[in-house]
Amino acid sequence: MIAARELRLRYRTGSRQVTALDGVDVTFGEGMTTAVVGESGSGKSSLVTALLRLLPRGATLSGTITVDGRDITALSERELARSYRWTTVSLVLQGAMNAFTPVLTLGRQIAEVLEIHRGLSRQEALIRSGSLLEETGLPGAWTGRYPHELSGGQKQRAAVAMALACDPLYLLADEPTTALDVITQAEIVILLKSLTKRRGLGLILVTHDLALASAVADRLVVLQEGRVVDEGPTEEILASPGHPHTAALLGALRALEARP
Ligand SMILES: Nc1ncnc2c1ncn2[C@@H]1O[C@H](COP(=O)(O)OP(=O)(O)OP(=O)(O)O)[C@@H](O)[C@H]1O
Ligand SMILES: [Mg+2]
Repeated sequence: MIAARELRLRYRTGSRQVTALDGVDVTFGEGMTTAVVGESGSGKSSLVTALLRLLPRGATLSGTITVDGRDITALSERELARSYRWTTVSLVLQGAMNAFTPVLTLGRQIAEVLEIHRGLSRQEALIRSGSLLEETGLPGAWTGRYPHELSGGQKQRAAVAMALACDPLYLLADEPTTALDVITQAEIVILLKSLTKRRGLGLILVTHDLALASAVADRLVVLQEGRVVDEGPTEEILASPGHPHTAALLGALRALEARP
């Protein structure tokens, strides 16, 4: 279980301070899908940043994060790199945007993660990269392909393969499907859902798409202005939203669904 308590994250740009997380208490269960929803600027990506402790320069974070009982806020940068990011909690980067550098093959890039974090040899890592691609529905031989040789959806699958490389226990996906068409979006979310279920991983899906969130998530966490305003099993929240903001989000969703 990932448990965050009293998380407070502030960014500083010049002399301006922005409080992106304002005392967030939240838990993410193992082996289940939790969707983090909320309007733009509510702090969803900041929460992901905080959970990975990938803070930009000038940002300050307080509060505690424990992952399966381990205090993450106490880890050094070296420990985070060696035994936390990729291996315990992994991030699905936006494949269509920036997960891959254009100058190296997919295999090289996925293999590099395995070489660094799992100590595999180049050859072992390349073989493993092929099976990871296959796990996401791509041909294993595509380790030899360059990112530009893939469609946006295929690139996103490869980004999922990379996130899974070191067998993490939790997968964080921040808007993993923006920039993709609606059908491809659904395919990627179904892929994430089925892979994490098969591997017994916790999936934390950040999205502003409440319809998508309601369809796949066991639990919903609703953020507004850096605070958790609603949290609980998806059906319960949909049946009786505990906060006016959730009700408003749901109202917007129903209005969209009711359109001819
Ligand atoms: N690197 C940064 N430097 C300064 N302010 C930032 C930075 N990143 C985010 N913010 C600010 O923190 C607040 C929360 O932003 P965040 O990106 O977490 O929202 P979000 O819910 O992910 O929004 P979106 O749905 O648009 O992705 C916003 O006011 C945003 O402007
Ligand atoms: Mg965001």
